Amino acid sequence: METSHPYAASPPPTAAVGEATRRVALVGGGAGGIGAAAAAALLEARHRVVLTGRTLATLKETASALGGDTDYLVCDLSDPAEATDLVAEVQSRFGALDVLVANSGGPAPGRVLDVSDEQWHQDLNLLLLGPLALMRAALPAMAERGFGRVVVVTSTAVRQPQPELASSTVLRSAATAAAKLASRRYADRGVTVNCVAPGATLTPRRVAILRSRAQAAGIHLAAAVADDQAEIPAGRPADASEIAAAIAFLASPGAGYINGTVLTVDGGRTEST
Ligand SMILES: NC(=O)c1ccc[n+]([C@@H]2O[C@H](COP(=O)([O-])OP(=O)(O)OC[C@H]3O[C@@H](n4cnc5c(N)ncnc54)[C@H](OP(=O)(O)O)[C@@H]3O)[C@@H](O)[C@H]2O)c1
Repeated sequence: METSHPYAASPPPTAAVGEATRRVALVGGGAGGIGAAAAAALLEARHRVVLTGRTLATLKETASALGGDTDYLVCDLSDPAEATDLVAEVQSRFGALDVLVANSGGPAPGRVLDVSDEQWHQDLNLLLLGPLALMRAALPAMAERGFGRVVVVTSTAVRQPQPELASSTVLRSAATAAAKLASRRYADRGVTVNCVAPGATLTPRRVAILRSRAQAAGIHLAAAVADDQAEIPAGRPADASEIAAAIAFLASPGAGYINGTVLTVDGGRTEST
């Protein structure tokens, strides 16, 4: 057929599974915090959601609170073999994996010269090798189906190093680079890989970080919270739903031409552009 522009042979930007079929989304760390909020946003966007985390009881509780098409599978995402098996399990139980939210817990605080080798290895598994295993397992089938979205949850530490969160800063920079490289692999097959970098977000992890900061500085938790807020132009931490909104957007068909990027969601805190 004659066409008026030279790109007629390119696939449509949102080549997708049938619109009648609900996309299947796997959400790491889905029992609480940012993961649970992402699950809620994806349910709102009519996905079938599979939560994963290490604790059966909290997964059950969150799935029942979320309602809708929510399932769960227990998995420790810091174990690359478990992460690989998890993807196969989702594909076989639910027929496909269309959206992968690579999210889990964060590493313990620590300055760069104080983190032990053992801790570096644990954190490497959690923040780099686990997410890489998920991507390695999920991306080829996404490409075959002509649609896929991967969103890796990282941290603003990749834009502005956080001295007391050295492991997060170092290893998430590596995960960001890995996501960038992976994003190019199936870019012509409807598959995107992006990162969302949250700033301070009101979740159990944030409270733990502020507690540890208060303890280290010998101040009350309230003072640590006030100091933290003073550094945020928005004047408050994010609600987890605000990070989830960015994740759901990058997971949507409409975000099909956004690939290999980092979306910072931090109330304006990061000083670089
Ligand atoms: N909150 C913030 O201010 C903030 C800022 C920047 C970046 N982040 C990052 O964003 C991510 C989510 O943060 P969050 O605040 O939502 O954390 P959170 O409140 O600690 O929740 C983390 C969730 O992940 C699960 N999880 C932990 N380790 C896991 C593992 N090895 N495998 C599978 N699931 C695991 C936890 O459940 P189980 O323990 O039951 O497994 C929990 O449901 C973290 O990587 C965090 O470092 C958070």
